[in-house]
Order: sequence, then C-alpha cells, then structure tokens
Amino acid sequence: MSVSASALAFVGAGALGQSFAGLLAKNGEAVTLLATPRTAAALLAAGRIRLRGVVECDIATAPAPAPPGSVGVTTNAADLPTGVGLIFLTKGHDLAGAIAHVRTAWPKDDDDTSWVAGLQNGLAKDDMLAAAFGAARVVPGATILGGGRGADGAVTVTALGMTYLGEMQGGSSPRVDAAIDALMAAGIPAQAPASIQSILWSKACNAAGVFGVSVLARATGPQMSGDPSMMRAYLALVRETAATGAAYGVTVGNYPNFPPIHTYTVTPDEETVAKILKPGPLPRGGSLPSMTQDVLAGRPMEVEQVFGDLVARAERAGVAAPCLTFVRDVLRGIDRISRGD
Ligand SMILES: NC(=O)c1ccc[n+]([C@@H]2O[C@H](COP(=O)([O-])OP(=O)(O)OC[C@H]3O[C@@H](n4cnc5c(N)ncnc54)[C@H](OP(=O)(O)O)[C@@H]3O)[C@@H](O)[C@H]2O)c1
Repeated sequence: MSVSASALAFVGAGALGQSFAGLLAKNGEAVTLLATPRTAAALLAAGRIRLRGVVECDIATAPAPAPPGSVGVTTNAADLPTGVGLIFLTKGHDLAGAIAHVRTAWPKDDDDTSWVAGLQNGLAKDDMLAAAFGAARVVPGATILGGGRGADGAVTVTALGMTYLGEMQGGSSPRVDAAIDALMAAGIPAQAPASIQSILWSKACNAAGVFGVSVLARATGPQMSGDPSMMRAYLALVRETAATGAAYGVTVGNYPNFPPIHTYTVTPDEETVAKILKPGPLPRGGSLPSMTQDVLAGRPMEVEQVFGDLVARAERAGVAAPCLTFVRDVLRGIDRISRGD
C-alpha cells in the first residue's frame, strides 16, 4: 500500500468523483476533492465517503489537505495540489462553471507539470479544457466505471468498467503512465489505448444511440435491444456519429465493455438487428440510461455536450446528420419542458 500524495485530484464530488477519490484514498493516498459547498459540507459532516455495490467500503474525509488514506474535501480551488492530474467529474453542463472556478487559483504560476482531464460524456469537454488550461495540459479520457448517488448520500458503484487516458496525438506518456499506475493500484481498471480519439468517438457513437433512443422511447437497455425498430434507430445514430468521426480522421473500434461499434458500422443494419434481437415480449426490467434517469427526475440532460456538439462537428465537416439533428432538437425541447424553463 502506498502512503503518499496522490498523482490525481478531482473536481466534482458526485458518483464518479467520490468513487475515484475514495478508491485512491483507500489505497493509502492523500486525495484532494473539490466539491460544491453543499456536498462538501455533507461529506465533512458524515466524516466519510460510502461506496456500495461492486465495492463496499467507507473512506474517511477531512478538510483538505487530508492525511494519507483519506479524502481531503475543499470548496476552494487554491487548495488543489501542485503537480497533479486534475480530473473534472462534474456533469457536462456544469463543466464551464467548474473550469472557471478552478482557473482563478490553479494551476499556480510555477506549476509546469499539472494536467487536466474530463470524463464527461461527449467530446466537448477536451476543447473546453484546452481553451482554459492550454492544449498541452489536456489529457483526453473516458470512463465506463458506472455508479450513482443515492438519496442517503451513499454511492452505488455498479461496474468497475475501464477508464481510458491517452495523449491527444495518441499513445501514452510518463504523466499518463503515472495516472494509470495509480488507478490500477487502487483497483480501478485503467489503460492508455493506442488511440484515445478512437475510444472517445466509439463511446460517443454508443452514447448518441443509447441516449437518443432511450430518452425518446423511455426504454431500458434490454428493451432497446429487444425491439428491431429501436435497434435500427440506435444504429442510425451510431452511423452518423461514426461518419462524423471519420471526417475528422478517426476510425471507431470494438472495445471491451461496450458494444462493437466498428462492427456495427461495417455490417448491414438488418444483419446486426437479427444477431442481437431477442425474440419474445419486451423485458420489463433493466435500468434506464443516465440521461433518461435525468429527464425523468427533472434534472438537466447533457444535450448540448452530447448532441449539440456532435451536430456542430458534423456541420463543420459537411457530414449529413439528420437523425442526430432531429434528436438534438427534440431533446432540447424535452429538456426545457422538464426543467420548467
Ligand atoms: N455515473 C456514471 O456511471 C458515469 C459513467 C461514465 C461517464 N459519466 C459522466 O461523468 C460525469 C459525472 O457523472 P456523475 O454520475 O458522477 O455525476 P453526478 O453524480 O451528478 O456528480 C456531478 C458532481 O459535480 C458537482 N459539481 C457541479 N458543479 C460543480 C462545480 N462548479 N465545482 C465542483 N463540483 C461541481 C456536483 O455537485 P453537487 O454534489 O452539489 O450536485 C456533483 O457532485 C457526467 O458527465 C457523466 O455523464 C458518468
């Protein structure tokens, strides 16, 4: 077990922020977590982060800087450490505000080595981080670690899926290797893929298909893959996203823990549907994708970060994206209505 200042720090103490910070601290590291005032107060009052589900542990919290083996919680960006990778784990629509707050006090003028990443859904986050911190400090990343915050404040970790980090131009680097080592040592699967851009676009394809169909149909994952019409709608969104990525020189791939996006783009849709479809009545159970959970709970959806950004990229590249555009526009409307805007 290491007992040292962590190579990573986090912004956003929600499901992912508490999971990443908590698991690193459980491994003996001193981890800093920048939270909103209400969640910082709740975590400090509780004196612990509670992770349940595929991991079951309580991790001590304390005001930052916390001792090794605990999570140092702060609301002040000036408390963020020097020489770390700072991973933003706010929702996409809160990212601009979080970046603006952090940028007022971090990184310090003499901190040449700190870097930033964002694991939000969508591709917009890296451009936003580059605009604020400079492209050289940005390490693109994505995660399929899954979790959610319960009403009692505990975080249920539903899957320890892979976290990917990689340099913008491809491959790894000493700073990426150090982050991967820290995550792996904490029991969080992590790797630097040959092309992080291929990961990001493949994940964007799946997110566009799953969120687009599920929000409109209020369908669970098993229901979508149990219905040929919803499958075709999913594949249409995947194809338009993949075509947009191709216009930017990125080839989508087949990666563990999410659907074989490359195969979907080179196989006739009816063949894919026939292969995946489970005959019989639609399953009643199954969890709803996060964006559908958000709209049903009256929370904002990440419409602009996922669909708005993809449509803008398609338009800039001259790629026809009528399905993505339709979904963006309808979801914008649903988002306004559900928020009473
Ligand atoms: N959860 C998953 O399974 C999963 C998987 C892959 C990707 N993602 C993506 O990862 C991102 C985070 O997801 P999540 O499920 O962890 O969301 P979440 O539970 O809603 O957590 C977001 C956190 O960000 C905090 N926040 C908002 N503005 C902030 C600011 N200015 N400064 C500091 N903290 C701020 C929120 O504060 P409050 O505590 O006050 O609400 C909340 O704690 C999303 O973009 C999501 O799409 C999630």
